[in-house]
Amino acid sequence: MQFKYQESSLLEQDLINKTASNLENYVETLHKVVEADNYNADESSINLPADENLFEEVMKLRNEKATSELKYIIDIGIGGSNLGTKAIYDALFGFFDLLEPDRFPKIIFADTTNPETLEKINTLLNTQLRSSDEVLINIISKSGGTSETISNAEIILKSLKEKFPDIHSRVVATTDEGSNLWHKADELNFAKLALPKTVGGRFSVFSAVGLFPLACCGIDIQKLRAGALRARQQSLALEVSENPALLSASVLYLQSQNGKNVNDNFFFNQELESVGKWYRQLMGESIGKEKDLKNKVVHTGITPTVSVGSTDLHSMAQLYIGGPKDKVTTFVYARTEAEAVNPDEMILSGLVEGIAGKSARQIMNAILEGTKKAYTNVEHPFMEVVLDEVTEYTIGEFLQFKMIEMMYLGKLFNVNTFDQPNVEDYKKETKKILNG
Ligand code: PA5
Repeated sequence: MQFKYQESSLLEQDLINKTASNLENYVETLHKVVEADNYNADESSINLPADENLFEEVMKLRNEKATSELKYIIDIGIGGSNLGTKAIYDALFGFFDLLEPDRFPKIIFADTTNPETLEKINTLLNTQLRSSDEVLINIISKSGGTSETISNAEIILKSLKEKFPDIHSRVVATTDEGSNLWHKADELNFAKLALPKTVGGRFSVFSAVGLFPLACCGIDIQKLRAGALRARQQSLALEVSENPALLSASVLYLQSQNGKNVNDNFFFNQELESVGKWYRQLMGESIGKEKDLKNKVVHTGITPTVSVGSTDLHSMAQLYIGGPKDKVTTFVYARTEAEAVNPDEMILSGLVEGIAGKSARQIMNAILEGTKKAYTNVEHPFMEVVLDEVTEYTIGEFLQFKMIEMMYLGKLFNVNTFDQPNVEDYKKETKKILNG
């Protein structure tokens, strides 16, 4: 992974270094968390990719449940309980599911409670499955009591039970040990996986929350973990210039102080869109806060947005280039070996100059370079993350880099990076309405 920011961030290097150096003690704290190798600290999600017991537990259950007949994993969870899994699945497989109809197992995500989706999932399972070994129901809820998740699980299970009375043996619940879902799973003979109490949803992708379903659908979770460990090592570097997480957090913070309160994450690989949606939660919930650590009302935050190149240039470029100067952009793109080339003698010759003989990648690169040039011309700050192809390793690396970046950013904003008190506000109100 390459991280570029120097000229394009439009900030003096001295200022970036000074800001980053305020986090020296916190970098030391993260080193101590790694040395402790446990789950006691708020930051202990950084120990997940090194946890061999977790890996073995996940692989043991995967070997038991992901039989050669498995076709569909129904992943039932929302927010932190599904966005990381979906980010990785979509990047590697899911974005191409329609184009690869015969590749199995597939993950189907049931997050919000949409009657149309639920009806179609039930129809698919009822018409396509010949044996319960072809399906795995994976219920993920840290709290064990999220309305959408429990309701979706109920609707799908009820329908499947009529067809397969033994369906309970094909259900896995991932939740905090001791939660109501944990006890219900015991009662109903579901398999169980726990996640550490200190690991919140948006930092849980390398816990059983993400590793189990991803391993079941054939993703090499060893490589994911290896990429994450590499990013952890880099993101804990004491030397600022060698620490992309620290640099990126410093740029985001400094630009937010300059009134750039929107961070657009612009992915020039379509299959990474869900990675952007995962990042929205990570940044939105970690930095968007009513109060700071001194309990002072600050209403602070940076609004994360996701754009896909070049698609969104055809809808948003006008705003991005001509509109308010309130954004700092992170361009993310990966190299690719895939070849799709326009022939020298084109069937559609004479319509667009300059594309004959060029590959789709060359055209995309020209668009990306053109976009960066246009941003530079109007003095829009940006950073770049270049991945070496989209693989388990590089996605693991990117997600871990961003989670540690967020820990640094939370410190700079002087907020609690790990709580989300206002998410609970609407959950409480919803429960009152449902019980009213
Ligand atoms: O970060 C959060 O707290 C939320 O986005 C949760 O991840 C989401 O509400 C799901 O919660 P749970 O995993 O408890 O079902």
